[in-house]
Amino acid sequence: MLIKLPSASDCKESEVTPESLYVSRRAMLGGSLAALAATALPRWASAADPSRYANVEAGRAPGWFSAKLAATKWQAVTAPGEATTPFKDATHYNNFYEFGTDKGDPAANAGSLKTEPWAVVVDGEVGKPGRYALEDFMKPYQLEERIYRLRCVEAWSMVIPWLGFPISALLKQVEPTSKARYIRFETLQDPKTMPGQRSSFALIDWPYIEGLRLDEAMNPLAILAVGMYGRELPNQNGAPLRLVVPWKYGFKSIKSIVRISLVEEQPRTTWQAIAPDEYGFYANVNPEVDHPRWTQARERRLPSGLFSPNVRPTQMFNGYAEEVAGLYSGLDLRKNY
Ligand code: MTE
Repeated sequence: MLIKLPSASDCKESEVTPESLYVSRRAMLGGSLAALAATALPRWASAADPSRYANVEAGRAPGWFSAKLAATKWQAVTAPGEATTPFKDATHYNNFYEFGTDKGDPAANAGSLKTEPWAVVVDGEVGKPGRYALEDFMKPYQLEERIYRLRCVEAWSMVIPWLGFPISALLKQVEPTSKARYIRFETLQDPKTMPGQRSSFALIDWPYIEGLRLDEAMNPLAILAVGMYGRELPNQNGAPLRLVVPWKYGFKSIKSIVRISLVEEQPRTTWQAIAPDEYGFYANVNPEVDHPRWTQARERRLPSGLFSPNVRPTQMFNGYAEEVAGLYSGLDLRKNY
């Protein structure tokens, strides 16, 4: 039986900027000027230390995180000409279906998530499988600050300063076997603390699953993040460990990871399983391939509102084509969306 499915992350019509707001080129230029004014870099933007996040709400970082922060490589990757999204927007407009389907639900409900202690299992086609306490899992890695654009398939975007380390460094540690072709990630499954997993209306077959081809995971831009805005990840943003793949739609960036498996076969990922004709395995940001129900040519940069929609053209691979286009040479991106 066919049911009418909501979009990946329940994209409500009211959340996608209506076509009428894309209006004339003049209005668009006005919007870009407003955006330009907003990009006037904040006072601290050139500083290479965490003091520039003085106005960000403090978290309760575990000891291992604070120790790592001291040795962080700040601004290892920046987003020139882009204003960082205010912390408040990045932490109060979220998709994390385990805590509800409205954008404010994760901030309201994710306090119940217990992130300490946290264990991560690494298994499958690896020479060194194991189950690690998060602080042990993190030991080999130096944190780097990566300021990336985040483009949701729903056509909104942000610019977020993540703290994490390249997945390639993890792969070096765990030694994939010659059979490993994909990497599969799994979110915590804990209906006690995750109200969305208790809901009988949930479309998702929990746990949330995502995956990458091994060569995608090896790309230096692909990271596992444990922090943002100079502090540990807030729960609603996927604490304590999440994926960040900036050239792909946000739904690939799976949150609150408990299991990382190296596998031979392409994993069956959450949104692809729900609506395969709307959400593909690759999910590369592509302004030329529309979602069946809306355009992907433009996006709404948050914060945005009715009077300043802050709409801008979407960039191929979210602006990271130079770094990642080579991964897909010879692949038909219309078929492999
Ligand atoms: N991971 C899990 N486990 N559950 C989710 O619902 N939503 C995805 C992704 N990771 C999601 C998830 C979607 S649709 C997006 S756009 C991003 O998280 C949003 O990340 P943010 O809330 O930090 O902006």
